[in-house]
Amino acid sequence: MNVLEIKNLSVSYGDKLVIKDLSMDIKKNKITAIIGPSGCGKSTLLTTINLLLEENGGQFTGQILFNGKDILSYEKKDVRRMIGMVFQKPTPFPFSVYKNLTYAPKYYGIRDKKKLKDIVENTLKRVGLYEELKDELNRSATKLSGGQQQRLCIGRALTVEPEILLLDEPCSALDIKNTANIERLLKELSKDYTIVIVTHNLSQAKRISDYTAFILDGKLIEYDETEKIFSNPKDRRTKEYVEGIFG
Ligand SMILES: Nc1ncnc2c1ncn2[C@@H]1O[C@H](COP(=O)(O)OP(=O)(O)OP(=O)(O)O)[C@@H](O)[C@H]1O
Ligand SMILES: [Mg+2]
Repeated sequence: MNVLEIKNLSVSYGDKLVIKDLSMDIKKNKITAIIGPSGCGKSTLLTTINLLLEENGGQFTGQILFNGKDILSYEKKDVRRMIGMVFQKPTPFPFSVYKNLTYAPKYYGIRDKKKLKDIVENTLKRVGLYEELKDELNRSATKLSGGQQQRLCIGRALTVEPEILLLDEPCSALDIKNTANIERLLKELSKDYTIVIVTHNLSQAKRISDYTAFILDGKLIEYDETEKIFSNPKDRRTKEYVEGIFG
């Protein structure tokens, strides 16, 4: 089933066209990797899906269907809840661990203390931080290690029960060990969530994704099962990119 259907999407900033007539469907409960050289439009694609594009000074034509309905027909705040976003640099709020994980649920109306406490506990368990942080809920999130911060940010997105998680180079500021932790976590989360990950790290795309989309200069060149993209791509440009001939 396709949770997102992107149809003839073109995106521009002012008169600069950066995504060109891109169509692709995103499959539910799978990990889709977006790869392509710097500046090809990967982050722009994510911000368009999340309806952050306008705030970044861009506009789009074409259509994005979310569960079969035009994404523009939803309230922005509902889209942001249902489609969570995690960025390259961990961006915890400069508050306690507890407040980072209760901020969004409170914003969406949950007041009950016990419920909030359960959300914090379950989320920490979900992202593998419970043992490390259960006695440090009042610790400032910005004092955590980079890997912990990024897991907390993924957790924060999960606190409002999204359907899709968009991640823009979530591991590029992390070391190998923390990267492996996040990859394991994403694999696990893909049982319950649809995951779209932008990555420069081709072996990461190969390791964790089910589908891979290769974008070049704003155009979708090839989109297929990851296995096929890396072992038997149809397009010469895809082949050259995954072989590291250009990047
Ligand atoms: N807010 C903006 N205003 C104007 N131009 C922008 C803006 N954001 C991105 N661009 C331009 O749009 C194009 C696509 O940028 P984008 O950030 O989506 O690429 P990317 O594939 O994510 O690159 P990278 O791999 O370096 O993160 C680039 O030419 C970039 O300069
Ligand atoms: Mg980017």
